[in-house]
This record gives sequence, structure tokens and C-alpha cells, in this order.
Amino acid sequence: MTETVGFGIVGCGSIAEIAHFASIAKTPEARLVACCDINPDTAARAAEKYGAEAWYTDYRAMYAERSDLEAVIIATPNNHHRNQAIAAAQAGLHVVVEKPLAVTNKEAWDIVEACRRCGVKLMVGCDRRFWTQNQWAKQLIEDDVIGEVLMARASLHEHWHLYQNHVAKTDFRLRADVAGGAALPDTGAHAIDLLTWLIGAPVKRAVGVAKRLAMPADYTLCDDTVWLLLDYENGAQGCVSCNRFSHAVSQATELYGTEGTIYTTTDATNPFQSVPMAVYTNRDYAIEELPEILRNHRWPQLFWVEDIVNRPVEKRWTALHPPREPNNYTNMTRHFMDCIIHDEEPLVSGEDGARAIEVMCAIYKSMESDAWVELPLQEEIVPPYYAPLPTEG
Ligand SMILES: NC(=O)c1ccc[n+]([C@@H]2O[C@H](COP(=O)([O-])OP(=O)(O)OC[C@H]3O[C@@H](n4cnc5c(N)ncnc54)[C@H](O)[C@@H]3O)[C@@H](O)[C@H]2O)c1
Repeated sequence: MTETVGFGIVGCGSIAEIAHFASIAKTPEARLVACCDINPDTAARAAEKYGAEAWYTDYRAMYAERSDLEAVIIATPNNHHRNQAIAAAQAGLHVVVEKPLAVTNKEAWDIVEACRRCGVKLMVGCDRRFWTQNQWAKQLIEDDVIGEVLMARASLHEHWHLYQNHVAKTDFRLRADVAGGAALPDTGAHAIDLLTWLIGAPVKRAVGVAKRLAMPADYTLCDDTVWLLLDYENGAQGCVSCNRFSHAVSQATELYGTEGTIYTTTDATNPFQSVPMAVYTNRDYAIEELPEILRNHRWPQLFWVEDIVNRPVEKRWTALHPPREPNNYTNMTRHFMDCIIHDEEPLVSGEDGARAIEVMCAIYKSMESDAWVELPLQEEIVPPYYAPLPTEG
């Protein structure tokens, strides 16, 4: 059994700083071996700050020279994901690829197939699944607390200035030829993945729009406004909305079941969802029968009456405050480590990542045809303005 796993990071920009270097440091079985950035100053600074043994400007050299590498995290602009992930798989490395897994559906399935062929693990960095409130939501759905989920909605609204002007290290998000888009592949990637996981079935068909309504054309050609409707194979209906012009950040997920409702928020709360999670169930539970999450994290409104006198427990909205630590990124790295050590399939599989890209590509197609688009797609869809790199591997 592996004792520690040697990690490399490709792309030492903002998400590597916010998420990956820190969570490797917090995971005892993970060891940072090397990092790589096309910008030598960025690579050297990251290596020094986070204690990597070596730094590189070419991922191929890092994969070839570091025999102590077992896994890499790819956190570069979207157009590089395909070639860098496939090269990692061919070097026998397990791979985490930041979301979106790729830009076109063909790129995404190329990565999945290369990892399958080479027998390495592939996980997509959809960290929203690793927020405790979303993990609790998934558990409560599996415990049948809200019955059959028939309708669900996920949104993520965030002004473009916020990340671009204060956090991002490069302007790749503004370049449609590099990123493929903004509201759809950047924020939409999270909302589509989270909704699909919570609903628990693949998307059967999709329709929607991804347009640039607010961002000036001389600033970017990327989309800033997204509305999607999704039909799932289990009969559920989903809705995703995202924009890049709302100054008040908002992320919310609403799950409507035949026996209850769950709301969760991650990035920001708002006056109407002022707690990270709330649950309403219509089921008749005695207090000792309540699923563990509700029993342990729900406070009665009147301590000595509500839970003692009311049988079944009172039907009301229950606000839950999940612990902030371990955070989503630490949970995600810990999970990937466990998958490597215990030879398990990662929670956000390559197939999940590729199906999310299919949804995004279906939206571009649905805008052309003004109609629902069935999945899986039969041809490669290249988002408007995207200029794929020459393929390698
Ligand atoms: N999970 C999340 O919530 C989340 C948040 C932010 C970004 N991301 C994803 O992470 C990826 C990177 O985004 P970011 O915000 O960190 O970008 P960024 O602009 O802050 O950093 C990108 C880094 O990659 C480097 N780079 C560019 N081309 C390279 C190459 N060929 N080889 C090696 N390094 C290269 C740049 O020099 C830069 O340091 C994107 O795919 C993005 O969608 C995910």
C-alpha cells in the first residue's frame, strides 16, 4: 500500500494557490514534489512558498524527469487541459483536472479514454460536491427525506471584476479562443455538475442560451448570461442560471422532492437564504428516527417542549450550519488521496466531467437550432470563437 503520494501541480495560478497547494499541505499522505508554470517566476515562487522540490516551465519535462511523481493536478487555462492530462496519463500519473474538464466534447472524451487506457485515476475539480452542506443534501436525498426529486435549480452569479481583477493571475477567462466562454464553462460548470450529481441521473436532453449581454465586446467575446433547462433520464427537470454581471454574488441550489425541499448555498448567502442549508420534510419522524444529519445539527425552537412534546417532530424549515473546516478543497484532495490509496473511483469521475461538457456543447448547438438537443452528442461541437490547440498524444 502507498504510504505517501507525490503530487505535481501544472499551472501555479489563482486556483492552485487558493485550493491545491494548501490542501496538499493539509493532507498528511500527500507530498508536493514539483510544480510547473509556463511563467518561470510564478513556478519558482510557488516552489519556494509551498516547498516543492523542483519547478518546471514545461509539463512534459516534469512528467519525464520526476520518477517520484504519482499524481498531478492540472490547473491551467481550459484549452491546455486535454494535452496536459493525456500526457500525464501516458506517463502513468493519476490526474485531477480543474473544471471544466475541457472545452469541446471531443477533447473531454479524449482525456477520459486516455486515462482508461493507461489505467490511471481521473477526477474533475468540481469542488462544490465537497462542500459539507451539499454532501449532507446528497445523503438526505439518499435517506429519502424529501422523496423523489422532480425539480431542481442551481445558480451561480458573480461579477466578472471580482475574480478577474482581484484573484486571477492571467486574463485567459476573457479570451474566448482560450477559455471557450465564461458564464457557461466557468461558473456554469459548477452548477451543472452539482445539479446533476444531486439529481442522481445523466442529462437526457438540454436547451438554453449562453449570451454576452453585459460585458463589452472590446473587453471580451465570452458569454455572461446563461439559462439552461435540462431533462434527466430519471424524469427530473433541472434549471441552471448563471451571470457575470451581478455585483452581489449568489450561489444557490434548490431541490424540490415529493416529500420535502432542500436549499443549499456555498459561495455566498443572502438575506433570504441566510444560512448555508435548510431542509423541510413532510415525513412523520419521531425525534429518535430523524436521519443523523437532522438529529445532530437541528436545534429545537423551544428546547424542552418541541422535541419532547411533538411526536412526530414539528414540520418546519430546519436551518443547518455545517462546519467550515475541513473545507471543500481539503475534502476533495483527501478524497482523491483515498481513491489512489484504496484503489477507488473518484466521486467526480472523468465521465461526469465529459457529460458536463456535453451539456455545455449541447447549449451552443441548441442556440443554433432553437431546439432541445439530445445527449450524447454525435459530433464534436466547438464553442463560438474557441481556437483548439493542435492535439498531442
Ligand atoms: N474549482 C474552482 O472553483 C476554480 C476556480 C478558479 C479556476 N478554476 C479552473 O482552474 C483553471 C485555472 O484557472 P485560474 O483561475 O487558476 O487561472 P490563472 O490565470 O489565475 O492561472 C493560470 C496559470 O496557468 C499558467 N499557465 C498558462 N499556460 C500554461 C501552460 N501551458 N503550462 C503551464 N502553466 C500554464 C499561467 O501562467 C498561470 O499562472 C481553469 O481551468 C479554471 O476554470 C477552477
